[in-house]
Amino acid sequence: MISMLSIRPFRPEDAPRIRDITVACFDGVSIDQNIERLLGVVADLPWQARKAAQVEDDCRAHPEGVFVAEVAGEVAGYVTTRINPHTRTGWIPHLAVDRRFRGRGIARALLAHAQRDLRKRGMIAAKIETLEQNTAGASLFPKLGFQEVARQIHYIKPLGPDVDEE
Ligand SMILES: CC(C)(COP(=O)(O)OP(=O)(O)OC[C@H]1O[C@@H](n2cnc3c(N)ncnc32)[C@H](O)[C@@H]1OP(=O)(O)O)[C@@H](O)C(=O)NCCC(=O)NCCS
Repeated sequence: MISMLSIRPFRPEDAPRIRDITVACFDGVSIDQNIERLLGVVADLPWQARKAAQVEDDCRAHPEGVFVAEVAGEVAGYVTTRINPHTRTGWIPHLAVDRRFRGRGIARALLAHAQRDLRKRGMIAAKIETLEQNTAGASLFPKLGFQEVARQIHYIKPLGPDVDEE
């Protein structure tokens, strides 16, 4: 773990920095980017805007469960969480660390913080997902005790006039 690292709750003024980290970090590990590679930009909304909007949704839905990692006053990464008091299963939808700060345990620290917060809010389990193409995620989560429960295949098909004849 690096010195000068602190983890604190998200503040609305973090939003632009979180957006920049998101767009840089999810390059190569985004379903919407995979779709864009196949179909081109869909509905004038590039994958970066789609991914940033998902993270913004997390920040709106459960802002007190979003945490940022600061190194010497700079936001180096973030984690988002969601809670479901009915199922008592928390969710960790997004985690990202700026490339300049990687390999120093920041993701581990963010995930530890997220899990403690979920537990504090009454969750008894936490879900997290990663893409098969994401070697970092697939290596990290089992190391922290997350057990694989399912694999899902995502498909896409453009809807042209031919679907009317199918
Ligand atoms: C995944 C990510 C958050 C890791 O951040 P990080 O701060 O560098 O991670 P840590 O230093 O805490 O590393 C913890 C573990 O992650 C794994 N890991 C991190 N980078 C890795 C890489 N490039 N390749 C393989 N494993 C990697 C390792 O298992 C590592 O454990 P180790 O320290 O025992 O080797 C970062 O690479 C990232 O932002 N990636 C893009 C977004 C993403 O994939 N988010 C997670 C899935 S939603």
